Amino acid sequence: MENKRGGWGSKIAFIFAAAGSAVGLGNIWRFPYQTGMNGGAAFVFVYLLAAFLIGLVVFLAEVSMGRRTKKNPVGAFKQLKPNSPWFLVGILGVFTAVMILSYYGVIAGWTVGYAFKALKGDFSQKLTESMVQNMFAGFSSNIGLNLILFSVFILMTVLVVSFGIKGGIEKLTKVLMPLLFLILIYLAAKAVLFEGAAKGLSFYLKPDFSKINSKVILFAITQAFFSLSLGMGTIMTYGSYISDEDFLPSSALWVVSLDTVVAIMAGLVIFPTLFTIPGMSPQQGPALVFIVLPVVFSKIPGGAFFGFLFFLLLVIAALTSTISLLEVPVAYLIDEKKWRRKKAALVVGMLAFMAGIPSILANVKGSYFSKLPLVKEDFLTLMDFLWGNLSLIFGGLLITIFVAYVWGADSAVKEITKNGRKFKFAGIWKLFIKYIVPAILFVILLSRIV
Ligand code: TRP
Repeated sequence: MENKRGGWGSKIAFIFAAAGSAVGLGNIWRFPYQTGMNGGAAFVFVYLLAAFLIGLVVFLAEVSMGRRTKKNPVGAFKQLKPNSPWFLVGILGVFTAVMILSYYGVIAGWTVGYAFKALKGDFSQKLTESMVQNMFAGFSSNIGLNLILFSVFILMTVLVVSFGIKGGIEKLTKVLMPLLFLILIYLAAKAVLFEGAAKGLSFYLKPDFSKINSKVILFAITQAFFSLSLGMGTIMTYGSYISDEDFLPSSALWVVSLDTVVAIMAGLVIFPTLFTIPGMSPQQGPALVFIVLPVVFSKIPGGAFFGFLFFLLLVIAALTSTISLLEVPVAYLIDEKKWRRKKAALVVGMLAFMAGIPSILANVKGSYFSKLPLVKEDFLTLMDFLWGNLSLIFGGLLITIFVAYVWGADSAVKEITKNGRKFKFAGIWKLFIKYIVPAILFVILLSRIV
């Protein structure tokens, strides 16, 4: 099975690496703020359906394409449908990876900054709503500091990817992901016992089904794509390193479940705490967790220590995600353009860094990038919309259509069951990949563009 592209060391290694890609700021930063903006528990409910019905189906499609071809997304499309424009879907994925990396890295830089803040004792005092708001506003508009944090983060990503998937990614995720999980459990256990936490718990866990509307469904599905790293070939690329012995449905189910549990846990830390802070609204948007988490640490014993540890683990969770983003263009340049790994990682890392600078300026009040003409949004929000939303749904739709009708759903099932185990849900999976998922993604895309 070993070839010179390298492969995962074991079955569990793929699960860890893919979970490392999936678990990141998407779970701990994006999921809570999306939940807060979209009505709480109703959003969580729709999200669960989106992750396990749509996410899981697309996940399997991507992994099986990757393993079948053992190639990067561009090469995968080329191999399964030579001499056709389908490889452009792969190119879109490569480009999207660089664009997501550019703004994701900026937010990842914030987590580095907040780790130091915790260490400095910034969270070891009683914090009010205006204090945490000002703290975040001051921090995120500090251009010099953010440039440093962002470049440190990109550099770490480049370094790990330079060493290749075996040297870097596997080792990092195996130890640190379980640790992140443990500390999340601890913090959630503390948060649900804060005085006044009940209100937050009911906001987060007691769905008001009348709040489910097309917007909630749209954002929940988009969040599932983002959180599961779907729609641009990350999972395809990681799938290309899987051994033929692995049973893909169980690997896929593991990754989707782990990712979902981490997101749910993050909400269990954020929402009970949020409602204990006078004047705080769940509709903060992207700043939400950077405003609420300091309060969590200010309320628990040893908060400086736990704050530092938590943000450090979040840095690593984000790192295993940025690694998976960078790996897509790097695998493309190695396979298709015969670049050396180190050169590819460095060049793409630098591109992402330059593309990310406007996302830093987006947080400086009064700057051009903080309120773009025409769209009336800041640059970072626009990037997330274009690449973290539209492009993933569009890419996901095209991948689904390709697997269902061009490569063929039956060929995919053959790949899925290659190790000889029976895939009990093959019929349902085919139904979803052929009709239900493309129809839903198409409607979403249409409503987003209009
Ligand atoms: N899923 C990651 C997170 O939740 C981010 C990420 C990594 C990603 N690779 C991706 C998102 C590919 C979309 C596509 O933080």
